[in-house]
Amino acid sequence: MRRVDDSRVIDTLLRHPAFADRAVLEKALSGRFFAPFVHQEVVCGPRFEARARLSRAALAGVAAETVRGAADEACAHLLGPRGVPSLLDDVRRTVARATVRIALGDDLLDSVAHAAVADIDRGIKMIGRPDMQARRALGAALEGVLDAPERWPAGSYLGVAREQALALDLGERVDQVASVFLATGTIQVSDVVTHALVALAQTPAARGATDEEVVAEAVRCWPVNSSITRQATAEVIIDGRRFPRSEPVTVVPASLPRDATFDPRRTDGAAGWAFGVGPRACPARRVAPMLAAAVLGRYRALGVTIEEGYAHDRSLAREVAARLGPGPAPPRTSFARRARSRAVFAGVCAESYPLAFLDGLSELRRVLTERA
Ligand code: HEM
Repeated sequence: MRRVDDSRVIDTLLRHPAFADRAVLEKALSGRFFAPFVHQEVVCGPRFEARARLSRAALAGVAAETVRGAADEACAHLLGPRGVPSLLDDVRRTVARATVRIALGDDLLDSVAHAAVADIDRGIKMIGRPDMQARRALGAALEGVLDAPERWPAGSYLGVAREQALALDLGERVDQVASVFLATGTIQVSDVVTHALVALAQTPAARGATDEEVVAEAVRCWPVNSSITRQATAEVIIDGRRFPRSEPVTVVPASLPRDATFDPRRTDGAAGWAFGVGPRACPARRVAPMLAAAVLGRYRALGVTIEEGYAHDRSLAREVAARLGPGPAPPRTSFARRARSRAVFAGVCAESYPLAFLDGLSELRRVLTERA
């Protein structure tokens, strides 16, 4: 995997039509993370175009009031003063409820969706092995909803992108709603809100900033995607550098030169590559920060204190204990709990990467043969 660190090259490369496909290993990892659902990010050709049309129509068409209303309802239903062993788990529970409402227009699948999405998130963060039963239960529940378009509520993702959803067969609709609208939709937003709450708790000087400013700065400081990968369909020369056909390239947003200080009031507009650019950029650039800011505002109004001495990093694999509402700071997560989760993390990493490599082997062989 060739790493690209030069901003000018990254910009041209990500916008270049020959670099429209993700790298083999990333696709194999995505296949494992979202299984049994197939994410839009791993498909290509006409199948990708159809999925991308649905994402764009839903995410561009949903009204701001729907997003804010869903966030308000979820927070009113779930938020209250208490101690929580994992702030991320708490935030994810809230964001999942709001996301189900935005996507499907009601809360009927709230519990089944939350169970599957939390499981997918633990797999992505390598802190849990997949519970396929929870994921299949979501798939089965979605089949019933997605096979009845006459009942899709106006204003939901399904309602605003009805035509694009109906262009997909039922299996593909289930894959799209489960992996993109529910799983990615919840996971990315809850990561951003959790980063924002941890950063605010640790940076008193930032507390005067608006929710929108805090979200934008959290996305800049802790990019939700660890890497953006591509492989070219033809040889490309950018700025004098040769990129052979099919060579995997990667951009690691968190490692690019940037100011690491968390300062939501910054005015240099240094958003970086947090949403990607070009044909495969994130279609939720408008909706995701809106939902994140609405949920963040409710947690800030309640008040959030986190355990002392928490080492904040991008992955959020390390749990952070928190208190919601007034009261003493939560006790530090015990050494035994930390040691247990480190052991699970090491075990899941040792299992996931080789298995993803095996999954990707046949495509890798095909790509290497094409290059030879
Ligand atoms: C603040 C939260 C979010 C951030 C920072 C974010 C960031 C990103 C990034 C960096 C990519 C990869 C772009 C690339 O490879 O060039 C991406 C892709 C994607 N995101 Fe987001 N995302 C967020 C929230 C969401 C949400 C809420 C949804 C859906 C409801 C979503 C749907 C997608 C999809 C479908 C893709 C794949 C696009 C493709 O393959 O063409 N994202 N996102």
